[in-house]
Amino acid sequence: MRLDKLTALVTGASSGIGEAVSSHFRREGARLLLTGRRQELDTAGPDDVYVPGDLNDETFVASLAQRAAESAGSVDVVVLNHGLQVSGPLTGMAYEDAQNVLHSNLLSAFLVMKHFAPLMPEAGGSFVCVGSRLGMVGKADEVLYSAAKGGLIMLAKGAAVEWAQRNIRVNVVAPGLTVTPVIEASFRRRPDPDAYRREREAQIPLQRLATPEEIADAVLFLASPESSYITGAVLPVDGGYTAA
Ligand SMILES: NC(=O)c1ccc[n+]([C@@H]2O[C@H](COP(=O)([O-])OP(=O)(O)OC[C@H]3O[C@@H](n4cnc5c(N)ncnc54)[C@H](OP(=O)(O)O)[C@@H]3O)[C@@H](O)[C@H]2O)c1
Repeated sequence: MRLDKLTALVTGASSGIGEAVSSHFRREGARLLLTGRRQELDTAGPDDVYVPGDLNDETFVASLAQRAAESAGSVDVVVLNHGLQVSGPLTGMAYEDAQNVLHSNLLSAFLVMKHFAPLMPEAGGSFVCVGSRLGMVGKADEVLYSAAKGGLIMLAKGAAVEWAQRNIRVNVVAPGLTVTPVIEASFRRRPDPDAYRREREAQIPLQRLATPEEIADAVLFLASPESSYITGAVLPVDGGYTAA
């Protein structure tokens, strides 16, 4: 088992990609500390610890780190998967929405890194950030989300360099469009959901959307010792979208 005896924090564990990452990590033997905003988590395993809260709030992040220190002593792997997309034309976006996107995708990641890096053991550890293909290319109506995910990539690269001597690796998985509840709900809001989905699939070289499990496979690789010499890297898992 690739994560045997390791302790891992997974953020955004209450939905989509975070749920798939948690399930892969459980299978690989990790002890799991999970977090999300909703109060209850039906999908948690019997040995998992779920602590709900808002990662935009530094007091909560500090208390989560305290809880991890008390229950596990150290944390080997942190998956920064939580995130939020607010779409719409730049000129129509309210300042509060822009702040929310930057906080929920970028500044909250900074807070988790700040409070969890000190909990990593002397031998080192691994952060895996879930970014987006839209952190690498621009798209109309997604400008603030792109800016936040692009910022997340640079946050990861900078931290990778800053912490390299402590053997703390920091990498990014950059998913393409992935079938998660939030994406399925956005399709359902379209007048013809099936036609819209086909249109989106046609824009992807592999001609289909990703599954959450395919993204979790890449996260698991970057979290595990199999990627021990990889740090500061961005791994697109997008069916070729950013290659085209
Ligand atoms: N799905 C895609 O097509 C796609 C593509 C590229 C990148 N991504 C990225 O992949 C990640 C997961 O996406 P997903 O589709 O699985 O999203 P999702 O189903 O909307 O899940 C997002 C998760 O993040 C949590 N969360 C959001 N804001 C938070 C905050 N301020 N504090 C704590 N938790 C917070 C949510 O908690 P609650 O639900 O409990 O509120 C939920 O667990 C995100 O970073 C997203 O940007 C997704």
